[in-house]
Amino acid sequence: MRTRRELLHSSAALALIYALPAGLIGSARAQAQDEIARPLDVPYVPTPVPVVDAMLDLAKVVKSDIVYDLGCGDGRIVVRAASRFGCRGVGVDLNPERVKEAKANAARAGVAELTRFEVGDVFEFDFSGATVVTMYLLPSVNLKLRPRLLKELKPGTRLVSHDFHMGDWAPQTTREVGRSRIYLWTIPPRT
Ligand SMILES: C[S@@+](CC[C@H](N)C(=O)[O-])C[C@H]1O[C@@H](n2cnc3c(N)ncnc32)[C@H](O)[C@@H]1O
Repeated sequence: MRTRRELLHSSAALALIYALPAGLIGSARAQAQDEIARPLDVPYVPTPVPVVDAMLDLAKVVKSDIVYDLGCGDGRIVVRAASRFGCRGVGVDLNPERVKEAKANAARAGVAELTRFEVGDVFEFDFSGATVVTMYLLPSVNLKLRPRLLKELKPGTRLVSHDFHMGDWAPQTTREVGRSRIYLWTIPPRT
């Protein structure tokens, strides 16, 4: 059976093919994407709840934290953090459908006041207010974001990634949760 990691990689490959000009591909894709500003860098594959909990535990989230999920999907990481710890959270996703779902999930969980979800591109979004950042993207996307994460996040901010590494930036800790691996880094002091 294929793992979620393989699924995400192969879905990403498909997404890249589909990202070719719409005229080459036909109208079906154009219709499916008509509300999305540009092709997604990563397809939607949700993190299982036990992995979400393990990510929040690895980051040692507390009430005073502000948790940002970059590419937030249905908002499950931010909603879970607010529900478990009473902390604030922000999610951003390029897909407006996901953001709608995230807002509905926050309202259902009674944490709408603690959370904010926005349609946006992780490469342009201001995440400097975070004390914890979570990501379930792809290695290439992590690497592209890495210089901004190191420059714009406050020293001491914890960064947790589901399944994917940061190249030669060695993680402090990794943990296996079922079929997933999660990684933790802390933004170092400025030199
Ligand atoms: C693998 S899913 C992870 C969803 C959620 N973080 C979770 O762990 O359950 C990746 C998400 O990133 C979003 N995404 C892809 N490219 C993006 C971009 N450039 N900016 C913002 N979101 C993006 C997708 O729409 C998708 O919801």
